[in-house]
Amino acid sequence: MTAPLRVALLGCGTVGGAVLRLVGEQAADLAARVGRPVEVAGVAVRRPDRHPEVPAELLTTDALGLVTRDDVDLVVEVIGGIEPARSLIQAAIEAGKSVVSANKALLAEDGVALHAAAAKAGVDLYYEASVAGAIPLLRPLRESLAGDQIRRVVGIVNGTTNYILSRMAETGAGFSEALAEATELGYAEADPTADVDGFDAAAKAAILASLAFHSAVTASDVHREGISAVTATDVARAAEIGCTVKLLAICERVGGPDGESVAVRVHPAMIPTGHPLAAVGGAFNAVFVEAEAAGQLMFYGQGAGGEPTASAVLGDLVAVARNRVAGAAGAGPTAYAELPTRPIAETPTRYHVSLDVADVPGVLATVATEFARHEVSIATVRQDGHGDAATLVIVTHSAPDAALSATIAALREMPAVRGVTSVLRVEGLS
Ligand SMILES: NC(=O)c1ccc[n+]([C@@H]2O[C@H](COP(=O)([O-])OP(=O)(O)OC[C@H]3O[C@@H](n4cnc5c(N)ncnc54)[C@H](OP(=O)(O)O)[C@@H]3O)[C@@H](O)[C@H]2O)c1
Repeated sequence: MTAPLRVALLGCGTVGGAVLRLVGEQAADLAARVGRPVEVAGVAVRRPDRHPEVPAELLTTDALGLVTRDDVDLVVEVIGGIEPARSLIQAAIEAGKSVVSANKALLAEDGVALHAAAAKAGVDLYYEASVAGAIPLLRPLRESLAGDQIRRVVGIVNGTTNYILSRMAETGAGFSEALAEATELGYAEADPTADVDGFDAAAKAAILASLAFHSAVTASDVHREGISAVTATDVARAAEIGCTVKLLAICERVGGPDGESVAVRVHPAMIPTGHPLAAVGGAFNAVFVEAEAAGQLMFYGQGAGGEPTASAVLGDLVAVARNRVAGAAGAGPTAYAELPTRPIAETPTRYHVSLDVADVPGVLATVATEFARHEVSIATVRQDGHGDAATLVIVTHSAPDAALSATIAALREMPAVRGVTSVLRVEGLS
């Protein structure tokens, strides 16, 4: 019998608890797949008294002591947040242990430095669970598509906001009402800021863009807008033009006079109901990838939850354990392309704009002139009603975001415009 590979588990909450249980339940299969038994050497938590499910001899509050122990080969970090997770992962890497993490916040902020440290130490750093939970996505980007050129990655990567937007579309509810329901049902945390303001999705977008475009992208490079300003009117207007509203993480390679760059953004957008992402309801996640040779690919599944996320963690654990058995480390991602990130102001997008206007002769021409003045071309325009309740619904062609924002600001100042009732970006319209 070969000696077991010993794993330090940092954190035993929603994900860590499921990892601990699955490692125990699947011990025989894991041993067969890895070529050596895999066992948990210790479990670091903050409050040991809250963990009767963990054998007492495994529990510790000394996470640093655990990761640097000589009898630990691999480290699984499922604490979350920046510190102490970063210091613990660094210490593990320096001590020659391969690391599996589910920590999107940390990888999006410090991925480059952590990868460099792992490469220097000759160990693995895998984090499939950090984006879209159970869905195999990072390894397909990193390995299966390594011979292709990825053009675009567009995803619904936050289940909480997708649940809220789905309920708004189904029931006509406003944002606050749908958020209250999501909180009540456990789909939203007591403090929902990270989800509804788009921080969580922005971290995931940074990780996806880094891998897809072989460039260093951090969360601060991502343009981020959440969903708290999405109104029932926006959702109703979307339905009128055959669209639905989703919070999208969009990573794209864009050409320009100064060469290629990477545009990464997270914002709510209208997408046609026929788009594959439109059918993604409730708390599910899905990511749509467009590559030069592969064409369009779609990844769909559970983006969160203890067991689904633990599935991705265990997949990584098997991968790093196999590498350890082989006496090697896998090739990490590279940032060789060094594409710069393009600011949102210069990024081409399309807008859907709904205006309440005075129904007087020439109003349509005045509004159209304002778009033209900012070099924004109009794709469609529709007028609903007349008299005091006239509404203009305009969908633009693609234009730099700054030109569109300036147009909206100018429209708000026009005497003929009584109100700008809905402004949302549109994606996926032909
Ligand atoms: N939950 C999901 O569905 C999901 C999905 C994808 C990715 N993730 C990622 O997975 C990670 C873990 O998430 P989670 O939902 O499992 O979190 P969680 O339920 O809050 O669990 C966190 C665990 O970390 C422990 N911990 C906190 N600070 C610690 C410290 N200083 N030293 C040692 N242990 C410490 C906690 O100990 P106590 O139990 O004693 O408090 C707890 O066991 C995060 O990076 C998260 O973003 C989660």
